[in-house]
Formats: sequence, C-alpha cells, structure tokens
Amino acid sequence: MIRPFQGMVPKLGARVFVPDSALVLGDVTLGDDASIWFNCAVRGDVNWIRIGARTNIQDACCLHVTNGKWPLLIEEEVSIAHNVMLHGCTVRKGALIGMSTTIMDGAEVGEGCLVAAGSLLREGFQAPPHSLVAGWPAVVKGPLGEGQRQLVGSVWARYVRYKEAYFKDGWPLAVAPWIEAPQPGFSEGHPFP
Ligand SMILES: CC(C)(COP(=O)(O)OP(=O)(O)OC[C@H]1O[C@@H](n2cnc3c(N)ncnc32)[C@H](O)[C@@H]1OP(=O)(O)O)[C@@H](O)C(=O)NCCC(=O)NCCS
Repeated sequence: MIRPFQGMVPKLGARVFVPDSALVLGDVTLGDDASIWFNCAVRGDVNWIRIGARTNIQDACCLHVTNGKWPLLIEEEVSIAHNVMLHGCTVRKGALIGMSTTIMDGAEVGEGCLVAAGSLLREGFQAPPHSLVAGWPAVVKGPLGEGQRQLVGSVWARYVRYKEAYFKDGWPLAVAPWIEAPQPGFSEGHPFP
C-alpha cells in the first residue's frame, strides 16, 4: 500500500517492488530496483526516509523517524534482513543489517558493514566502514573477514533477482498514487507535524 501523508507522496524509482501488505507512506523516496517485502512499515510522516537503488527491506521491518530531528537514510545496495527496526539512523552503501536488529536515532552504519543478527545499536553509535558489529548493546568486533565480506556483497544482488522473479510471476510494479495537489517534502520546507 503506497499512501500520501499531508500531500507528500512517496517517490518511486523504476522497477520497484512493494506488495500490498507493506505500507510506504509520506515523504519516502525509493531508488530504482529497491524492494520492500511483506508486512513492512516505512512511515515517512514526521520526517523523511530515503532508500537507495537496489536496496532490499525484508519482511516485517519497521522504519520510522523522529519529528524535526532524525530522518532515515539507507543508501544503495543495502540489505535490511527480516524483522529489523530502524529509527532515525543512517546506513551507508552496501551494508547488511542482520535479522531482528534494532538501530536507534543518530546511529550510523558505515559502508559495507555487517551487523550481526539480533544486535542493538544505541543512539549515536558509529560503525566504521567494513566492520563487524554485534551484540546487545552492540560493539565493533573489528574488520570483516573474507567470508563475511562475501555474505555482505551477495545478499543485495540476490534480492534484486528475487523481486524480478516476483514480477515475472505476475506481481505488479509499484506505482505512486496520483493526488490533486502534491506537497514538497520536509527537506524542502514542509512543516513538521
Ligand atoms: C555475524 C555472522 C555472519 C556470523 O559470522 P561469523 O564469521 O561466523 O562470526 P563468528 O561466529 O566468528 O563471530 C565473530 C564474533 O562475533 C560474535 N557474534 C557473531 N554473531 C553474533 C550475534 N548474532 N550476536 C552477537 N555476537 C555475535 C561472536 O561471538 C564473535 O565474537 P568474539 O570475536 O568476541 O568472540 C552471523 O552471526 C549473523 O549474524 N549473520 C547474519 C544473518 C542474517 O541476518 N542474514 C540475512 C538473511 S537474508
């Protein structure tokens, strides 16, 4: 389901997958070949959310923001595994966030990082590029090993293939709704609620 909020309509790139059970609402931008899987909530109602090209947000993820303070940026070729909570944080290019992780406001995951399943990244936590981060609360374990790099580099490409397989099976391309008077987003001056 793709819905406007206060006149802000999600902006979708080409060949994007959003099944009906996922909610994408408000000031949200999805890059080309992005995929949002079943039962996700991507709620850009009180700040903006940007999701880069070829990034996948797997089933039952919850993506939200903090009013006037913390938007959510996920760059390209990122994998967000099942049941992850992302709130007002930044995830740089090519990172993999393991299942059931929670990342809080102001935290930043560097390019190519692997966040182990079930981690908690506290407010403002900084993960240097290409590192393994793990634990509740999380710590930086060190640079990625070769096997870990291969895992991080492979999941996003698989998910681009998976959503293409769904299109071939008859699932529709995501289309943004048309509305009479679309409004600019928060970064262009839309007032915070
Ligand atoms: C991180 C992961 C890849 C394991 O990698 P690995 O190379 O086998 O790592 P190791 O078992 O050697 O562990 C390395 C360190 O991280 C710790 N660690 C690994 N996984 C952990 C986890 N999920 N939670 C907490 N600590 C973890 C280990 O205890 C070890 O710590 P130490 O160095 O202090 O002893 C795996 O646990 C994981 O989380 N995979 C992500 C799965 C996922 O969500 N996939 C997406 C589905 S599409």
